[in-house]
Amino acid sequence: MPLRLLLVVLVLAVATVEADDEQRSTYIVHMSQSSMPPEYASHGEWYGASLRSVSSGSGGGVGGGAKMLYAYDTVLHGFSARLTSREARDLSCASGVVAVNPEVRYELHTTRTPEFLGLDGAAAQGLFPQSGSGAGDVVVGVLDTGVWPESKSYDDAGMGEVPKWWKGECEAGTGFNASACNRKLIGARFFNKGYEAAMGPMDTDRESRSPRDDDGHGTHTSSTAAGAAVPGASLFGEFAAGTARGMAPGARVAAYKVCWLGGCFSSDILAGLDAAVADGCGVLSLSLGGGAADYARDSVAIGAFAATEKGVLVSCSAGNSGPGPSTLSNVAPWITTVGAGTLDRDFPAYVSLGNGNNYTGVSLYAGKALPHTPLPMVYAANASNSTAGNLCMPGTLIPSKVAGKIVVCDRGVSARVQKGLVVRDAGGAGMVLSNTAANGQELVADAHLLPAAGVGEREGAAIKSYVASDPHPTATVVVAGTQVGVHPSPVVAAFSSRGPNIVTPEILKPDVIAPGVNILAAWTGRAGPTGLAADTRRVSFNIISGTSMSCPHVSGLAALLRGARPEWSPAAVRSALMTTAYSTYQQSSSSPLLDAATGGAATPFDYGAGHVDPAKALDPGLVYDLSTRDYVDFLCALKYSPAMIAAVTRSRDQYACADNKTYSVGDLNYPSFSVAYSTANGDDSAGTTTTVTHTRTLTNVGGPGTYKVATSVGVKGVDVAVRPAELDFASVGAKKSYTVTFTAKSQPSGTTGFGRLVWSDGKHDVASPVAFTWT
Ligand SMILES: *[C@@H]1O[C@H](CO)[C@@H](O)[C@H](O)[C@H]1NC(C)=O
Ligand SMILES: *[C@@H]1O[C@H](CO)[C@@H](O)[C@H](O)[C@H]1NC(C)=O
Ligand SMILES: *[C@@H]1O[C@H](CO)[C@@H](O)[C@H](O)[C@H]1NC(C)=O
Ligand SMILES: *[C@@H]1O[C@H](CO)[C@@H](O)[C@H](O)[C@H]1NC(C)=O
Ligand SMILES: *[C@@H]1O[C@H](CO)[C@@H](O)[C@H](O)[C@H]1NC(C)=O
Repeated sequence: MPLRLLLVVLVLAVATVEADDEQRSTYIVHMSQSSMPPEYASHGEWYGASLRSVSSGSGGGVGGGAKMLYAYDTVLHGFSARLTSREARDLSCASGVVAVNPEVRYELHTTRTPEFLGLDGAAAQGLFPQSGSGAGDVVVGVLDTGVWPESKSYDDAGMGEVPKWWKGECEAGTGFNASACNRKLIGARFFNKGYEAAMGPMDTDRESRSPRDDDGHGTHTSSTAAGAAVPGASLFGEFAAGTARGMAPGARVAAYKVCWLGGCFSSDILAGLDAAVADGCGVLSLSLGGGAADYARDSVAIGAFAATEKGVLVSCSAGNSGPGPSTLSNVAPWITTVGAGTLDRDFPAYVSLGNGNNYTGVSLYAGKALPHTPLPMVYAANASNSTAGNLCMPGTLIPSKVAGKIVVCDRGVSARVQKGLVVRDAGGAGMVLSNTAANGQELVADAHLLPAAGVGEREGAAIKSYVASDPHPTATVVVAGTQVGVHPSPVVAAFSSRGPNIVTPEILKPDVIAPGVNILAAWTGRAGPTGLAADTRRVSFNIISGTSMSCPHVSGLAALLRGARPEWSPAAVRSALMTTAYSTYQQSSSSPLLDAATGGAATPFDYGAGHVDPAKALDPGLVYDLSTRDYVDFLCALKYSPAMIAAVTRSRDQYACADNKTYSVGDLNYPSFSVAYSTANGDDSAGTTTTVTHTRTLTNVGGPGTYKVATSVGVKGVDVAVRPAELDFASVGAKKSYTVTFTAKSQPSGTTGFGRLVWSDGKHDVASPVAFTWT
């Protein structure tokens, strides 16, 4: 299955604990640097000795049988190694070892955007200074499938010299020369040791042992974040024609290839993060994820913690496991977690039935059109020898029943474009791909290999009902190109992963949504637009969808903000993006953003603070700032053990929790509120009243002013009180604290409710979403 079509899949523990103790798998070993005995000259020497002390058997590795893959020294103190389960156990008891965690495999989560975001206006151009060689020079590090350096999106015309502080490299390898980098693409590296240790040597006919992108995903994400403006870009010369441009066209790109055809392994991801932070990236973009795990075992969370401590903003995709609740990944509060919404652009295709009805769907099919005369139609479930025949899985369609027909397939399980290939290979003439309840009315366009249209659940049901009731059903499918000005937009994508946050219910995630449906950006020359092996077409730009695509939009915006406001911390940048995001339609502030899955109003569990609004984010008035100590206090509030805290923070000594202090998760100075009530003891009878108080501190970044608070709550029986209700800021940099008390009557378990808290000086609205859950 093409990587980009996968959403956050379950965390797959790559370590296979076999009865046979000789079976080795990869472990991440966290060391306490300050515990190094004096006889060692370097940490590397100490790590090697620790490994040798537990190693059994013989082998090529420095530790005898146990082979070290990477030594880490920036985002983690320690190393990764191939160990038997016994060696891992022994090592976890060795002196100076903080934690030994099995490696986890992560999956990738798979141009009109600048206009849609209001970045094209002259005003916005004046607001965001061009990146030069000064303090505003920001490098976006993209940990992904690598890069296709020949793409025009990496043209460095007009870019200043590479900053002197940059320590990155352009690593040569298979099909990739060190000269591939320039003043736009200033770094390209690859991390394959964990991948090849777990999966065996890679097939070099299919993938390149170098930063070269064999998949397309990494080229798409990095060009979305910071690609140069490319006039005349389109898919097949037909779709989304116009100037393709990254969010931060003046920023630099550094590609860290940590994802391979077999997935993204945490030992490689950590090595990529280690290098990216040491190299000098200011923003890191990760469109990948595993399942939700506690922060002490989540490599992305661990790497992101150190990055944030060093002033690097880390933006991650929320996952594509929606629309069900609690489907998020990358939920650590120091990560900016990005969900996906639609643009105001569509790629319509019309399905006209023999009964005269005409339905609108989407398509990016660009080949020979179907005849204008109607063709016979069949529902795949009735042309298959499989019980799940409606899904058009490989080898399930009976050629004699589909030959020359338009076949109706249901979405689900296999890749959408692969279903088209199955229909084509069985002799079908065209396909109507029907959404099911899981996708509702969300239309994701694909560059199908045969004439095809994707339709919403409602249209699909009507089409299937016609096919079932008419003895000779017929249809035509017409692909109509690009349509702009689609309303309403944005709509939350059905696939976008949703809250509540199951790791820490008191932190509302995702943080924001950004464009992630039908996004045009640069592509690899090594794969077709569908990513299928059978797809021999080659394109310079491709249109794909996913929170993988929304994440780099926010990474690029963060780079713009960092360039314009270099003094802001990563938390301040995120706060600015969150408190200025919109959750109602700009045309009509009383209409909440819609959810493609239900057609109804979306909630903060779907969009967090809302959809990003870059021009406003530049001038938020106030920010909720956070320091490393605040995040450690948060871990203390979660009752993390000293070893777990050390695994996240790399230090036992610097970041201990005080015995005599009361920590509260709700007091983390986050720009949103999530109040998790428990209907304790099964007593959810009305009348029990629970009070929860959160403390927050606002920092002025906009100039002197008096801010007044307003709250609104859309759930009965909940009262919100803010003290004080007015905050006076004398100057930029001034900090003022307030408390907010939520008093709620007990509600049945499973109840959710939402509200909003807004500080306003008449010029800036500093808005926070509030979510309530009763469990
Ligand atoms: C790398 O450089 C060599 C020598 O200049 C050249 O022949 C080759 O085509 C280059 N390869 C790529 C992928 O650019
Ligand atoms: C179906 O509707 C679209 C949009 O209204 C229109 O352009 C197209 O001609 C219609 N097709 C038929 C066969 O009526
Ligand atoms: C189903 O039909 C396909 C196509 O005719 C055939 O290749 C496959 O073997 C069949 N499978 C079963 C289980 O009959
Ligand atoms: C599928 O076949 C069954 C049995 O012949 C028929 O009742 C049903 O209407 C067909 N469904 C569709 C969607 O064609
Ligand atoms: C907590 O203990 C530390 C160390 O003993 C001490 O410095 C600090 O004042 C104490 N804080 C409180 C609130 O008692």
